[in-house]
Amino acid sequence: MTVSQDTYRLTSPDGSEMELPVRSGTVGPDVIDIARLYRDHGVFTYDPGFVATGSCESDITFIDGEKGVLMYRGYPVEQLAEHSSFIEVAYLLLNSELPTEAELSEFDNTIRMHTMLNEGMLNFFKGFRYDAHPMAMLSAVVGSMSAYYHDEIDATNRGHRNIFSHRILAKLPTIAAAAYKLNIGQPFIYPRNDLNYCENLLHMLFAVPAEPYEIDPIAAEALDLLFILHADHEQNCSTSTVRMAGSSGANPYSAIAAGVSALWGPAHGGANEAVLDMLEEIGDVSQIGKYVDKAKDKNDPFRLMGFGHRVYKNFDPRATIIREMCHKVMKQLDRKDTPVFDLALELEQVALKDDYFIEKNLYPNVDFYSGIIYRALGIPTSMFTVMFALGRSVGWAAHWREMISDPKGKIARPRQLYTGPAARDYTPVEKR
Ligand code: SDX
Repeated sequence: MTVSQDTYRLTSPDGSEMELPVRSGTVGPDVIDIARLYRDHGVFTYDPGFVATGSCESDITFIDGEKGVLMYRGYPVEQLAEHSSFIEVAYLLLNSELPTEAELSEFDNTIRMHTMLNEGMLNFFKGFRYDAHPMAMLSAVVGSMSAYYHDEIDATNRGHRNIFSHRILAKLPTIAAAAYKLNIGQPFIYPRNDLNYCENLLHMLFAVPAEPYEIDPIAAEALDLLFILHADHEQNCSTSTVRMAGSSGANPYSAIAAGVSALWGPAHGGANEAVLDMLEEIGDVSQIGKYVDKAKDKNDPFRLMGFGHRVYKNFDPRATIIREMCHKVMKQLDRKDTPVFDLALELEQVALKDDYFIEKNLYPNVDFYSGIIYRALGIPTSMFTVMFALGRSVGWAAHWREMISDPKGKIARPRQLYTGPAARDYTPVEKR
């Protein structure tokens, strides 16, 4: 394959030549446009898991896995983590630009005004088993939103696209808190419009009717930072699921529900829950070597949860920021359960010095430390992936809007390499 100015030239096995156009983005690797490859040359490309395949153009988020770069609409996540808020980052992801003071105030007020659920939706929680996994409930109730807001899901209508985004951002915390209250047998707590996004979530999670609940500002600050860091991440599994489901014209609430389901997997957003389960299984620093060896053993399915990433091959910038916040939260909350944090720090040090992890570029990812903070805030392990979904909800909404607004958009329909039986005739049952 040779590369001229703006084309790749391929020579096929029969000696015929084909030219494939090259396209460049603002930053990041060029792409080879293969859209006409099958039509002009009768071949597909093959890339299980889409390791090196771009599915779309996007202006929203950029990651450089080699340099540990993550930018939302061009703003480095480190700067947003230091100076911004989740609501402001949500505005940025949905509207492409940082808001003016007036725009931010209006957006914040709009979100506060949409935090209540249709009262009928609360009946779902009367039907779930008390010990249903909160991700199962989140997926089900988010999917049911298309049964309540069906009069405003015309994807071609800008107003409908906006109200959908606002409802997803505003109502998911209320649904998440309702799931948690069912799990612990406490009454549902209604949202309050006088509280900001994270204060309201803490209130709905931990307040009880029997006494006043005082919100810990450190907890609210920690949640706000975690939501900023989880807000978006290019074409990750769950976001690609939202885009694919939405590409058929399915309503946006159903597309988001599909994203919630994809996030639940332990290889993706379910990893933060799996990290805490893994740390509890390891139990003690003395056992770290045994589990690192298990992770390296090809015959052992055990993987070090919270390590490795499809894109980041040096470090996940989010993990760096979250690790620092872990130290702060543990100290400021005067936590006594630091053993699990100390175990995580030691496990990270052992793994980072191990040749296997060095050779395979396996570093802590966003999920390695986030669960430790959630647990320090009193949030149970079963709710960790739900918390991930709350942050990522605005990224899903932003990508759905970008996909549905693309004038060149088409239904996502990958091809395959068929390895099944060649054509054969039906055999009557008496002859089998
Ligand atoms: C998220 O895509 C995103 O952006 C996701 C995310 C987001 O914000 O949306 O960043 C959130 O999902 C973070 C990842 C959370 N998942 C985990 O922590 C689960 C543990 N990690 C692995 O399952 C794995 O690292 C993945 C799924 C994250 C990445 O897998 P890849 O890119 O498909 O890489 P791979 O599985 O091919 O691994 C490459 C090699 C393999 O060994 P070889 O086949 O080359 O011999 O590294 C090994 C793997 O066996 N490996 C691990 C490992 N992760 C990869 N070995 C031990 N422990 C691990 N954690």
